[in-house]
Amino acid sequence: AALRRGGGPSSSHLLRRCYSSESAPERKVAVLGAAGGIGQPLALLMKLNPLVSKLALYDIAGTPGVAADVSHINTRSEVAGYMGEDQLGQALEGSDIVIIPAGVPRKPGMTRDDLFNINAGIVKSLCTAIAKYCPNALVNMISNPVNSTVPIAAEVFKKAGTYDERKLFGVTTLDVVRAKTFYAGKAKVPVAEVNVPVVGGHAGITILPLFSQATPKSNNLSDDEIKALTKRTQDGGTEVVEAKAGKGSATLSMAYAGAIFADACLKGLNGVPDVVECSFVQSNITELPFFASKVKLGKKGVEEVLGLGPLSDYEKQGLESLKPELKASIEKGIKFASEK
Ligand code: NAD
Ligand code: LMR
Repeated sequence: AALRRGGGPSSSHLLRRCYSSESAPERKVAVLGAAGGIGQPLALLMKLNPLVSKLALYDIAGTPGVAADVSHINTRSEVAGYMGEDQLGQALEGSDIVIIPAGVPRKPGMTRDDLFNINAGIVKSLCTAIAKYCPNALVNMISNPVNSTVPIAAEVFKKAGTYDERKLFGVTTLDVVRAKTFYAGKAKVPVAEVNVPVVGGHAGITILPLFSQATPKSNNLSDDEIKALTKRTQDGGTEVVEAKAGKGSATLSMAYAGAIFADACLKGLNGVPDVVECSFVQSNITELPFFASKVKLGKKGVEEVLGLGPLSDYEKQGLESLKPELKASIEKGIKFASEK
């Protein structure tokens, strides 16, 4: 076995050896919205993941081309493209994880909630199909507004009698990715070593990075710098929307974040211990029914929703300020799904 210079094999090396071989369990991953701005690079990144044995790429148009292209990459998974509602069942059947980046993105001047009218219906119909064809799959919800689309999915699954709160995740990993990048830049610490929990939700002030818990610790960030880092993390999506000037929102960084989160879900399913990521899940760590926090992932999805840990006064204020907006977005999703 390859040994690290000056020591034993690294834990990441061992993990790669355990899980990168063809002997890793069979795992099917479906991407819904696979021909889109996020869907295409996410399909690429999932094709590169050795934990995936089957990759199903579904969209209402364009998937034959994406699937043919990605399928030529010489990695483990078999790739198939599915197009149009008639093929949705086939795409979903047998899936262990369903990743949903289907729906419209923001343009400058819009909030994520402005996407509700179109994306709520898309998410509802996709989740209805998930309940029918792969009720046990872990669902990674990327479509915005996440603060409402996750509650919509929960209601659809409840109505279908398939809801398992351990299996539904709002993907907030991009907030963590941004917080890590921005913190590393300001604190002048190596970005690869940085960890920052981000809690709350996924829109504006509902995104609450906990820089007081960031590691490696930095003692030279002023209160104003922490405030600026918080605001930049909360406005990270808007920064990209404005820079793209009408051509959509984050796609490449989102695909990266989505691939990190799906990989964590796969590791959890495969029994890798101590897999922890932040995610927007059903929760009782605050009075709100859904909340993003650190979550331990296991063989059945969420194994444990971890608490918030100690907060600074600034973070305590941020937590109280985000609750009314997050509550309203959750209720809007529940109302939509239960009325129609
Ligand atoms: P896009 O328009 O480039 O792609 C969306 C894809 O969804 C298109 O290919 C479209 O054909 C497909 N689609 C539409 N209706 C569908 C349906 N019923 N079934 C299957 N596919 C369908 O948009 P994008 O940039 O990829 O963004 C997608 C979504 O992800 C948006 O809602 C965006 O706001 C959201 N997003 C979330 C995060 C996050 O952090 N959670 C980050 C970035 C973007
Ligand atoms: C993001 O955070 O980049 C996404 O939610 C997309 C958006 O609309 O900002």
